[in-house]
Amino acid sequence: MNRETRLVKVSSPGKIILSGEHSVVYGEPAIVASIDKRLHLSLSGSRSDINVIPQNAEYFVRQAMILIKDYFGTPSHIGFNIEINSQIPIGCGMGSSAAFSVALSAAFFKLINQRLDLKKVNEIAYLIEKKHHGNPSGVDNTISTYGGLLWFRKESESFYTYSQIKLKRRLPRVFIFNTGKPEESTKEIVKTVADLYKKNPKKTGKIIKKMGIVTKDFLKYLMEEDDVILSQLIKDNEMLLEDLSVVSKDTEELIRRIEKIGGSAKISGAGGIKNGSGILLLYHPKPAKLMSFFRQKNIKIEEIKLGTKGVKVE
Ligand code: PMV
Repeated sequence: MNRETRLVKVSSPGKIILSGEHSVVYGEPAIVASIDKRLHLSLSGSRSDINVIPQNAEYFVRQAMILIKDYFGTPSHIGFNIEINSQIPIGCGMGSSAAFSVALSAAFFKLINQRLDLKKVNEIAYLIEKKHHGNPSGVDNTISTYGGLLWFRKESESFYTYSQIKLKRRLPRVFIFNTGKPEESTKEIVKTVADLYKKNPKKTGKIIKKMGIVTKDFLKYLMEEDDVILSQLIKDNEMLLEDLSVVSKDTEELIRRIEKIGGSAKISGAGGIKNGSGILLLYHPKPAKLMSFFRQKNIKIEEIKLGTKGVKVE
């Protein structure tokens, strides 16, 4: 391999959690979909050190590179050029950091001429995610690696299971709206829930269990096994997330107004407490009503495609 000239390009998708954020940390299942927003990463060898574009990603990249070099036994003096171009907003619940971790680990496999072993790519990405987010469930890196629509469950501290959901129905049209980057990090919000659990185990435990039931009903909806109404599932899920106090007042108010016009919305990801709560998943059986509601407010919402391809070499 000519380390100076070889250039590897990969891309990996962001994600939307359809059901089960937070409860997934406590062993309940989650349903998560990859989306049509991707992170593109180019990696090549360099004579020295690590050069990162954009520069503000440098710290994050350096931390990740330490783990990667360690995993592959790469001598620490070997340098790299890394360029990242992402369509996934940062810190809004759409899995931007996991998409980066997955893309970097996949690119490394290609750079050293190894077959893309997705299991290992996911394993390394999880190590990087752990370094940044404390104790994540692993759902973000797993969906970015494999893509599609996943049923995911963290079985123990170091073991999770997942399975591709083969849909029995056509996915509904869904939209997203960004309520703004949360002031709190995912790590902090997950800790807030953990503190709530410690303070009030019975009540919090009940909320988590109910979330698990909603996620199982969501699966029944996708498999057309039961007469489940999607609007109601999203509403129930959102109410339980609000019971965990991970949604800001402003976001709650907006969601109530969406419900009044016959739609439903939920945060997707960790949420946000003081101001922004990150991305909202929006649904209305008549999408035109949702679009006109936001148009009147001069707010642009985006339709998203679910179940896109996982990490790939470009
Ligand atoms: O905010 P995000 O995209 O990192 O999603 C976090 C999902 C949680 O369930 C809140 C945490 C986790 O690690 O699963």
